[in-house]
Parts: sequence; structure tokens; C-alpha cells
Amino acid sequence: MIRQAVIPVAGWGTRVLPATKSLPKPMLPVADLPTIYYVVEEAVQAGIEHIVFVTSRNMRAVEDFFDENPELTQVLEKKGNDKMLARLRQIETMAHFSFVRQPRPRGLGHAVLMARDLIGHDAFALLLGDDLMWSPDGVPCLRHLIDVHAQRHASVIATMPVPDSDVSRYGIIAGERIGPHLMQVRDMVEKPPVDQAPSNQAVVGRYVLTPEIFAILSHTQPGSGGEIQLTDGLCELLGKQPIFAYEFTGERYDTGDTVGWLTTSIIYALRRPEFAPSLKAFLRTLDLSD
Ligand code: G1P
Repeated sequence: MIRQAVIPVAGWGTRVLPATKSLPKPMLPVADLPTIYYVVEEAVQAGIEHIVFVTSRNMRAVEDFFDENPELTQVLEKKGNDKMLARLRQIETMAHFSFVRQPRPRGLGHAVLMARDLIGHDAFALLLGDDLMWSPDGVPCLRHLIDVHAQRHASVIATMPVPDSDVSRYGIIAGERIGPHLMQVRDMVEKPPVDQAPSNQAVVGRYVLTPEIFAILSHTQPGSGGEIQLTDGLCELLGKQPIFAYEFTGERYDTGDTVGWLTTSIIYALRRPEFAPSLKAFLRTLDLSD
């Protein structure tokens, strides 16, 4: 059973500057919650009990969001706002949270390696904070990966097909289809030019990894972009163990750039009954012709 997850949040958020100059990117609001909340919620709904955040110097707000705030609690108690008190309590107790710092941004592979001592020797989940996954059937994307892991006892990565124009922004896999949503991975390449990409199946930000990845990442050399890439570590793991890819069929929202974050916030607010009527009413008043 997968009970632990790593969520790296150490990045600079350069694609959302200047908003992220002093506000950590995972704290950008999507509707009335920080982006990172939805990632944690997916993990918890998939059965995760312990979350290891890999942070950096400027990520204190992430720690504070999942911690108690006694002064705020007092204010809300005085006001008799029991509803919000219960809401905050729910967030603070969603999971057990640990934090480890990545001293310098050295890539996703290096960020994952930082969590090694806190994770130990079990397989674990990895969720990337930019990607919000929406499952129309209510089964979290990560849950599907955990189910495949339970059957195959191997690492599992989530993929989705992307258009040619986007291939060079992702890790891309090659493999054989072995089930309706399942592939056995043969090769992986990080951000290939489209004419060198082995397929259109892009790695999206959800993984279940076997602990052997840590020893590999401890000697993985910098790759694409001069960073220690998880994809390169996974390629080496492929030489030792099978890896499976689960093709996710829900919606994925990339909050990693400004337009992606803005549209995600609108879509998530429109899904909330308390916000939808007035937001829709406002959107209808907009004249969108150029
Ligand atoms: C990371 C991974 C990449 C994956 C992507 C999904 O890249 O390295 O393999 O396809 O996340 O969002 P990043 O977007 O952090 O550059």
C-alpha cells in the first residue's frame, strides 16, 4: 500500500513572475484555495497519509498553510465563525506533513532525492504541484497509479497524449500498449524536439516510484537544461525493473504559467456552487469580441 507522497515545491515560478517574486507559486489561489491544496487533496483521496514537501528558502507560506495558526483561531472563535474554524482544522489535519529543503534548484531528480531519508525504503507517490488533475468519475489520477502498482509491484507514471507542438515541453515515453489505459514503458526522454520524440505520450505530474530510484538519483548526472532529471533516473531504473504508464483520461490543468493558472482558477471557481452563479453572471456581461 502506498502511504507516503513527495511533493516538490522548491521552484522559482519564473513563468508566473512578477506575481511569484515574494508569493510562492504553490500559494497562488485557485478559486479560494492555494493551488497546492488541490494536489494534497488528490493525494489524501488516493490514500496518502504522510506528505513530504521539498521546499526552498522562500516557501515558508506553504508550511504555514498546513500548520495551525493559534492567533487566527482565536479571532475566528471570538467571531463565532465555526464553519471556517472547521474548514481550517480539516486542512491542518488532512495528513501528516514533513518538510525538507532543497538548498539550490538542481532539477526534479535532485528534489526527489532530498526526500530520501524521510521516505525510507517503501514505494512512494510523487505529485508535481503545477499539475491539477480533474477526474470526472471522482477517482483521483493517483489512485489509478496506486492500483496498477498494487498489481504489478513496479513504478507507474501517469501519461496523456499531447499535440506535436507541445511534445518538447514534457518527458515523453515509448512503450507497448498492454491494456486499455496501460503501457509498458520501453524508453523515456526528457523534453525532446518533436522530430526526435518516440511518441506523443507525455509524462504528467503523477508517479508511483519504487525506492530503488533514490540510489540511482544519487549518481544521475545533469541532463536536459543542465538539471538532474527524474526522467534520466527512470531510464536507468528501466534497465533494472519494469515501469508502467497509466494513460489518464480526465482533465489536466497546468497552473505553471500565468494564463494556465488564470484559466484553472476560473474553471475551479465555476465548479463551486457557492461561487458559480455570480461568476457566471459576471462572465456573461463581458464583451469578448476584439
Ligand atoms: C517535469 C518533468 C517532465 C514532465 C512534466 C509534467 O517537467 O521533468 O518529464 O513531463 O514535469 O508537468 P517541468 O514541467 O517541471 O519542467
